[in-house]
Amino acid sequence: MKTLDVVILTDTHYYSKKNWVDGDPYAFPPAREQLYRRGSEEIIRHVLDSLCEEGEPEIVLISGDLTNNGEVTSHEEMRELLRELKRRGKRVYVTTATHDYRGEGVSYGFDRNNQKVDVPAFCREDLRAFYQEFGRDEAVSVHEQTMSYAVDLTPEYRLLALNDDRGYDHAGYTDECFVWIRAQILQAQEKGMFVFAMTHHPVLTPSPLYKLIASGDLLENGEARAKAFADLGVHVMLTGHSHIHNISSVTSDKGNVFYDVSTAALVGFPPKYRVLHFDPDARSAAIETRTVDHVPGLDTDGLSLSAFTEKQFLGTVSDILTTAETDYEAFIPLANGFSLREDKARKLKWIIQPAAKMVNRLTFGKIWKLIGGKRCGISRGEIAPIRWEKVVPFAMQMAANLFRGDPAFDTDSVQYRLAKAFFVRLDKLSKPFASKLKGAGIESISGLLLPLLHKEGLPDGDCTITF
Ligand SMILES: [Fe+2]
Ligand SMILES: [Fe+2]
Repeated sequence: MKTLDVVILTDTHYYSKKNWVDGDPYAFPPAREQLYRRGSEEIIRHVLDSLCEEGEPEIVLISGDLTNNGEVTSHEEMRELLRELKRRGKRVYVTTATHDYRGEGVSYGFDRNNQKVDVPAFCREDLRAFYQEFGRDEAVSVHEQTMSYAVDLTPEYRLLALNDDRGYDHAGYTDECFVWIRAQILQAQEKGMFVFAMTHHPVLTPSPLYKLIASGDLLENGEARAKAFADLGVHVMLTGHSHIHNISSVTSDKGNVFYDVSTAALVGFPPKYRVLHFDPDARSAAIETRTVDHVPGLDTDGLSLSAFTEKQFLGTVSDILTTAETDYEAFIPLANGFSLREDKARKLKWIIQPAAKMVNRLTFGKIWKLIGGKRCGISRGEIAPIRWEKVVPFAMQMAANLFRGDPAFDTDSVQYRLAKAFFVRLDKLSKPFASKLKGAGIESISGLLLPLLHKEGLPDGDCTITF
């Protein structure tokens, strides 16, 4: 079987500059958020341009959240860029997701004072015809209700472009849709084809923490679906939505493996996309991560795009930590930008607010004392150089690690050993609240937080997966 290369981009969140109604987007400081909205046009244009260079894959996949929030202007400009990509010889396949429409047909723009104003947006049904030429026109089968489709990229490769969007608080496939999915897989396999898929929402959680804060963002029955895909011979699913650069896997009871290859948002922190090289005969796929570092014409304070978006991101995390303690109402919308829903934020106030208060004041020396000084295995001499250092920047790097993937903090360092001992102590202290924590999806605090410092096993960026 021939090998196949594809590019996967996701969560491009294109935001047309026309949505700064009568205003200049660059007249205002960039919003502190995980996405760099006002630079989205430049970033996407630059990446699509670079994909047209010699030797780049012919096939480009985009797995949803094409636009900021479904603005008509954003879609029109985004589609024009995709049409241009096709004119330059690429084959482009897209699915849409919840950021591509608004139920009421209204999204937001900004007026000349940077205040929010209404702008027209697409409704979900508008997307069907609008992106028909990016996949469904060529499909061997379409699941009309969900707009999912199956397309034969070559006589040997079938892509399932699945639309798992079932409204703003639900993602997944109905049993009826899964019957269609199964039929597409079996039909392709009868012809000896290799099948892989893309869907918007995470099938497997990218980290234990994500499952806690954003369980509603995960695909319904994700693990069971993943195992079903694996047993059907579909081992690779390309996903987005979480904006987290991650690869997770699960093995079915029959011993078949499934990989959820989640790619970060192209216009966020970290600004990344991937190239996959499928080699079914070797039962493997080599995965390469590309970071968008220099975008001509884009003002990034003299920094690389990844450094710039990281700075914005860390600024937001810092605001979150401050408001969680001092202004919980201001904290809620900020945390919402990181997938913590409003109802959950309110429900978890009892733990979030005191936790933030504690974290904001903590120094490494205080932690060392709290967990018993040298009895925790760290000597006075080891702690001395970092005794007065605040832990907030360390905690912020943990948050950044969640998104960037491949956390590789030195496990021999004093900070890591101290953090580990501290989290284990918190596990013990929180035992009386075990059932409350379990109800919130927390097995243990150490299990939740240690993976943000050091990840064992499967890399998130570059690797070769085997199936
Ligand atoms: Fe997104
Ligand atoms: Fe999304």
